Amino acid sequence: MLAVAVLAAGKGTRMKSDRPKVLQPLAGATLVERVLRSCRTLEPERQLLIVGHQAERVEQELGHLTGLEYVLQQPQNGTGHAVQQLLEPLAGFSGELLVLNGDVPLLRPETLEQLLDRHRQSGAAVTLLTARLDDPTGYGRVFADAEGQVSAIVEHLDCNPAQRDTDLINGGIYCFDWPKLAAVLPLLTSDNDQGELYLTDTVALLQPAFHLEVSDPDEINGVNDRLQLSQCEAVLQDRLRCHWMAEGVTFVDPPSCTLSDGSRFGRDVVVEPQCHFRGSSVIGDGCRIGPGCLIEDSELGCGVEVLHSVVRGAVVADGCAIGPFAQLRAGSNLAAGCRVGNFVEIKNSVLEAEVKVNHLSYIGDADLGSGVNVGAGTITANYDGLRKHRTVIGAGSKTGANSVLVAPINLGERVTVGAGSTLTKDVPSGALAIGRARQLIKENWPGPA
Ligand code: UD1
Ligand code: CA
Repeated sequence: MLAVAVLAAGKGTRMKSDRPKVLQPLAGATLVERVLRSCRTLEPERQLLIVGHQAERVEQELGHLTGLEYVLQQPQNGTGHAVQQLLEPLAGFSGELLVLNGDVPLLRPETLEQLLDRHRQSGAAVTLLTARLDDPTGYGRVFADAEGQVSAIVEHLDCNPAQRDTDLINGGIYCFDWPKLAAVLPLLTSDNDQGELYLTDTVALLQPAFHLEVSDPDEINGVNDRLQLSQCEAVLQDRLRCHWMAEGVTFVDPPSCTLSDGSRFGRDVVVEPQCHFRGSSVIGDGCRIGPGCLIEDSELGCGVEVLHSVVRGAVVADGCAIGPFAQLRAGSNLAAGCRVGNFVEIKNSVLEAEVKVNHLSYIGDADLGSGVNVGAGTITANYDGLRKHRTVIGAGSKTGANSVLVAPINLGERVTVGAGSTLTKDVPSGALAIGRARQLIKENWPGPA
């Protein structure tokens, strides 16, 4: 029987933020969500989240996660005090308790599996993850013998100068025999630099205690300030890019690109410098993205090219070409072979196959039939000041440069719109519509002096 407790009650003073630390985002997911994800494959019987600082906000933002038991720690008097709050909810529980710091977001599930295995094989009262760091500043120092048996953990602020030289640090991840931990939790005292109850003090009371040194010290990076947050982001970004390179994606300049872990790529995608993928996006085989793109919550088919553009909440089918300098907004749905050129904005519109919107246009709340050619500077005037209305343009139609289509309006198929027209009435199929003042010519005009 396994229970997992995540310590997420602290304020995170060093972040200097209005957000509770565990809700800080990292590659599109909060710290605490990442921590919870890292233990999912262990299929724990119970998952307890210890909340305190802005507890309601934490619960609210994690509302979409099921199977979590929230345990309130009020006030927040240290990590030992946090775990003391489990004495009641875990009364009678006789299995292992895996304790995870809510601010240690890079753990791999395999590492937790190893920790659990080691703990079960050794019969220890507690097993904890450690690492050797070039700069152990801020972390608790772990004192252990050659066999890996731990005698004590001393917090950075409580170390004497000799103890500070130790480079073996506590990762803040522990597997406890719960009944044994429960017996010593009431014995903790706050006789230390911070005047708090330290969970780390239980280790000296629980014997035998063993540690497991992680092979990749990045995994136990803790986030206490913005610098460490950025360092964790860098590690995650590197992991994501390496993963996708192994799957057949070319990054021309990997460090200049960022990914969310909801982004998926096909084979032979080429990502040029300065491209950013957010939310859940799917990029099909053979796409060429960038330089300079933001793609968010969008789906791109195969062989799509996007250059210096922003694509959010859009679906773009095979062989489309977007940009440079185009914006596809939510609800843009482009069928195969469309072309959206420079300084074009598309919103909540359906473009059938082979539609061309090449320059300087706004297409909002519109349905464009296949092969429609939108002339430079065409605007769908979709908003009357109160409500949005739709523009429908039938297949094979062509709008002249600088056309304004005042919605609601319906243009049939193969319609031609004369340049500079402002249309307010429907146009039947096959017609030419011109809505502009006629050109006047006055011969022999005196002209400028
Ligand atoms: C802790 C460990 C330290 C370890 C480091 C690893 C202790 C005493 N020290 O130090 O040995 O090297 O993590 O990252 O445990 N929290 C609560 N309630 C509280 C206080 C904290 O839930 O009253 C939560 C925080 O939200 C955070 C976690 O516990 O998620 C760790 O707290 P933090 O104050 O960051 O501990 P560290 O000083 O980093
Ligand atoms: Ca910490």
